[in-house]
Amino acid sequence: MADGDTSRRGKVTVVGAGFYGSTTAQRLAEYDVFDTVVLTDILEGRPEGLALDLNQSRPVEGFETRVVGVGGGSYEGTEDSDVVVVTAGLPRKPGMSRMDLLETNAKIVRDVSENIARRSPDAVVIVVSNPLDEMTALAQLATGFPKNRVLGQAGMLDTARFTNFVAEKVGVAVGSVQTLTLGSHGDTMVPVPSRCTVDGKPLTDLLSAEDIEDLVVKTRNGGAEVVALLKTGSAFYAPSAAAARMARAVIEDSGAVMPVCAWVDGEYGISGVYLGVEAELGREGVRRVVETDLTDSELAALSEAAEAVRAKQADVADM
Ligand code: LAC
Repeated sequence: MADGDTSRRGKVTVVGAGFYGSTTAQRLAEYDVFDTVVLTDILEGRPEGLALDLNQSRPVEGFETRVVGVGGGSYEGTEDSDVVVVTAGLPRKPGMSRMDLLETNAKIVRDVSENIARRSPDAVVIVVSNPLDEMTALAQLATGFPKNRVLGQAGMLDTARFTNFVAEKVGVAVGSVQTLTLGSHGDTMVPVPSRCTVDGKPLTDLLSAEDIEDLVVKTRNGGAEVVALLKTGSAFYAPSAAAARMARAVIEDSGAVMPVCAWVDGEYGISGVYLGVEAELGREGVRRVVETDLTDSELAALSEAAEAVRAKQADVADM
């Protein structure tokens, strides 16, 4: 976008200025499609410092979006955000499952959600805090927002990981590969081999069932593998890329179809649960859930994922 161009629009707030939040803010600012990116944190100074630093990168990177940092747990300046990305909460430590974060992060996500509802009652909320499917459900309950305006980021990330692993295995460009993952952002993640292609050819023509299963397992463990190596904190480059794309699709009202954690109401014969599915995104958040053809075993795995997350999502109502 050229300097002086007035087509930049809207405000996006990123809650949590850790690695995930700050890289998300950076990507959102560098898109140069928002007016303002607000970065908040309970820490005093960190978001303000990161905002200064990001603004000073603007002449070099050539973007005009203004970044505002708000510390000390204040939401001053976040008012009337169009989109809010919730990264607040603890990341995993090596050996932890995402579900081990449930109680700690539930308190944080509830508090954040209540503040969002007060300050930005019309926002679309994109949750990335873990355990993802449960925190998305909790954010909807705590904001009281319509279900289409609260969604979670996981499928974009899990799909990106799957695509990357397939490209490396087959030895092709990532741009040649299409993959899909549905279900939960956890043990019941459902990679969908029947929707995977390389240059339009079915993946099943190129790799053995055993090789595909290895890639599926690698994808399911993709986050844990990074956590084990980093030792402190979890992945943030691929996660922030995924979350930022979703926020962009919302502000641009693009209608892009992406795998996200969305409220499912009858699709695939599943109802009343937040689950990883493909959805069309626009200014109102989720415009609609898009059903894809699944094999019987993939559909069975998706139903199993729905029941697993349904049980846990019921628990968060009291947290
Ligand atoms: C991951 C975390 C962010 O999958 O859920 O890397």
